[in-house]
Amino acid sequence: MAEKLAVVILAAGQGTRMKSSVPKVLHKIGGRSLIAHVLDTAAGMQPDAVIAVVRHERELVAEAILDHAPHTVIVDQDEVPGTGRAVELAVAALPADFAGSIVVLSGDVPLIDVPTLERLVRGHIDHQRGMTLLSAVFENPTGLGRILRDADGSMRGIVEEKDATEAQRRITEINGGIYVFARTALESALAEIDTNNAQGEKYLTDAAARILAGGGAVDAVATDDTWLIAGVNDRVQLSDAGRELNRRIVRAHQHAGVTIHDPASTWIDADVSIEPDVEVLPGTFLHGATSIATGAVIGPDTTLVDCEVGEGAQIRRSEATLAVFSAGAQVGPFSFIRPGTELGEGGKIGAFVEAKNAKIGSGSKVPHLSYVGDVTIGEGSNIGAGTIVANYDGVKKHQTTVGDAVRVGSKNVLIAPVTIGDGAYTAAGAMVRKDVPPGALTMNVAPQRNIEGWVAENRPGTSSAQAAEQGREERA
Ligand code: UD1
Ligand code: CA
Repeated sequence: MAEKLAVVILAAGQGTRMKSSVPKVLHKIGGRSLIAHVLDTAAGMQPDAVIAVVRHERELVAEAILDHAPHTVIVDQDEVPGTGRAVELAVAALPADFAGSIVVLSGDVPLIDVPTLERLVRGHIDHQRGMTLLSAVFENPTGLGRILRDADGSMRGIVEEKDATEAQRRITEINGGIYVFARTALESALAEIDTNNAQGEKYLTDAAARILAGGGAVDAVATDDTWLIAGVNDRVQLSDAGRELNRRIVRAHQHAGVTIHDPASTWIDADVSIEPDVEVLPGTFLHGATSIATGAVIGPDTTLVDCEVGEGAQIRRSEATLAVFSAGAQVGPFSFIRPGTELGEGGKIGAFVEAKNAKIGSGSKVPHLSYVGDVTIGEGSNIGAGTIVANYDGVKKHQTTVGDAVRVGSKNVLIAPVTIGDGAYTAAGAMVRKDVPPGALTMNVAPQRNIEGWVAENRPGTSSAQAAEQGREERA
């Protein structure tokens, strides 16, 4: 039987250096809050319980945690400050008979991953330690806890920078703040830890020396991948961690068969899914729950938020939110696609088109310079250049329906609510106010009138008048 496992996430801290009205752990990288990244990693360990400790901005943080991971146990930290107190209260929330391992993570250390934690837990169990932590060697360890070791290399304890001697401050192996404990060893150590230190806090790090004193084993396992333990304390570290997360996401997609031409200018959120043989061109932003099927080409300079892109579709230099593009659809350049838009198989939204809540059937095209809003267009229809669907009467939005194989002429205004029947044609410049029956041609433009000689008479001496004179001579 596998060992029992609980994960404790520390999220009670204030995050003053963010200078933000938003709690630190709710700031986002890769489209998810910092705490959501940590919750996802915790869930990836398939633990028996996840406990989050909160205090600062308690309501907001607890709500965000439960929104993302409803089975999380929320524990409130009391007035006693420090990571040791936070963990003590979390452990007290575990069932009395829980006797397994406890992983401790921080809500503001978002890049820690499941494989690293699994290795840490395995080593911890194999060596029957009371405490195993992730450490790293930092050239500049300022501000972090230092790992104390004997001459033979065995770990002796952890000292916080504020409590360290000059000599101890020169130690470059630091505490990454990610731990595995055996419950029993942790609980008895925490019971003995006091707040008698430079910060007046109950330090979790004091557990190391306590467990050793009680005859238990402790060790720090160093990682070369220092991003795994990188904390976010200010906005500089937030963007640094965000960039690194993006680099890792882009790489993972590349390794899975996606062509990404320029990782530095390509930003892909953690929840985006991309099939192999998709091509992503520079300047592309893929956000939210966007999914892209094989053979699609996205970019350059394209932003997709919560979009679904079908096989072989092409979207260039455009921006779309909550839209569905079916297989073989084509979009752009320079189009703006708003929520509720669905483009059918082989359909086209061309250059300089704004679409909103537009259901465009397969093979139908809105190729140039149009606004199509609150409209359903059937299959195989064509909307002429410069056509506007006037969906708004100043008070309410109305629906427009265009049938199959319709030919809407250039520069039409379709005044909603209105229906154009299957196979109908509309003339260039039509103002379509009334329904058009299937197969009809509709036109309402006044007959063209040419007033001969108007320019010569009314604009004598202008370049137009001269050109007209010239043209008449040549024709004669
Ligand atoms: C802590 C470690 C330090 C380590 C560093 C790594 C202690 C005493 N020190 O430092 O050795 O190098 O992490 O980043 O643990 N928190 C609570 N309740 C509290 C205090 C903190 O939940 O009362 C949470 C914070 O929100 C944060 C995490 O614990 O998520 C770590 O706290 P923080 O103050 O950032 O760590 P340090 O004290 O700097
Ligand atoms: Ca602190």
